[in-house]
Amino acid sequence: MLKIGIAGLGFMGQMHYRCWKGRDDAQIAAICDANKNIVEDSKKVVGNIEGAENAIDFTGINIYSDFGKMLAEEKLDAISLTLPTYLHAKYTTQVLESGVNVLCEKPMGLNVPECDSMIAAAKSSGKVLQIGHCVRFWPEYAKTKEIVTSGEYGKVLAATFQRLSAVPTWSCDNWIMNEERSGGVALDLHIHDTDFVHYLFGMPRAVCSFGGKDSMGRLAHIVTQYLYNDDKLITAEGGWAMMPSFGFEMSFNIVQEKATIVYDCTREPAFKVCPAEGEAFTPDVQQGDGYILEIDHFVKVIGGEQVAPVTTLDASRDSIKIVEAEKESIRTGGIVSLE
Ligand SMILES: NC(=O)c1ccc[n+]([C@@H]2O[C@H](COP(=O)([O-])OP(=O)(O)OC[C@H]3O[C@@H](n4cnc5c(N)ncnc54)[C@H](O)[C@@H]3O)[C@@H](O)[C@H]2O)c1
Repeated sequence: MLKIGIAGLGFMGQMHYRCWKGRDDAQIAAICDANKNIVEDSKKVVGNIEGAENAIDFTGINIYSDFGKMLAEEKLDAISLTLPTYLHAKYTTQVLESGVNVLCEKPMGLNVPECDSMIAAAKSSGKVLQIGHCVRFWPEYAKTKEIVTSGEYGKVLAATFQRLSAVPTWSCDNWIMNEERSGGVALDLHIHDTDFVHYLFGMPRAVCSFGGKDSMGRLAHIVTQYLYNDDKLITAEGGWAMMPSFGFEMSFNIVQEKATIVYDCTREPAFKVCPAEGEAFTPDVQQGDGYILEIDHFVKVIGGEQVAPVTTLDASRDSIKIVEAEKESIRTGGIVSLE
């Protein structure tokens, strides 16, 4: 039985709680949150995606407000690190150095040097560090990766990814709306699609991005074209200035020579492959969601099982490098090379 700790019981901490709670090979032994009122506050509905558990059963779980104390007093096998982004590098390093495996939420850190320090800490500790790029594990996205990579439907001609959300309002002391602490919309929200583009097509040779600002002058909407050494047209759009009643939507369409693959979480069916000949169909996908499946992968890796690497630390770092280039492209108004 794995002894698990959750650090940060906000939106993502509650999401990870649900996933760990659903496993019979793991026990949530400890939760750490700086908010001393966390037992009451965890009852609030938070976040923009369904699935965060707001009826936490604290029975048998030790609650800490001091992270170092939790690490010192509990003999944990792994920690779900679901703290605000500006704390990822510091706390992940501390956990690894104490000999505990870490599943750290995305984005890996605020910038490439932070990621490099986390990679070095993982290497020297010999412990597992996985970054929560849940979209790589999301059943329809994972199936799409499989289909595109198989080459069954020929080359990709074009692809568009979209991720739109109402303004995030739930984060503790509103850290998420502070560019210096979250990296803003590009690093917090849009990175999901940047990372998936990176996973599907590899590192782009350059990016060209455009940004829209909110009424406070903060970047709130981004559109990027990812440039490769062929003529495929790859774009992604991410924005979090939608109105509260909009909620959250993610979608994509991939145009291949012999099929179009579409996903739209608001449609029924959400996922379809439309082949050149014959009827559109919905491929079978894995049960669960990206959070459940990334945790399943993490547990297998900790247990020493040989599994195909879905996400690597270098890939997580390089996705941040791409997002940094996207932000630079908006600032400079030009194409930014990644070569
Ligand atoms: N994978 C996804 O789909 C997804 C979605 C949303 C957020 N995220 C990521 O998850 C991370 C957390 O985001 P969130 O939306 O859950 O934030 P949040 O503000 O809802 O939760 C953060 C929690 O950490 C606690 N905390 C803050 N400082 C602390 C400290 N020093 N010690 C202990 N606890 C502390 C806060 O009290 C709060 O409960 C971010 O990196 C974010 O980018 C990922």
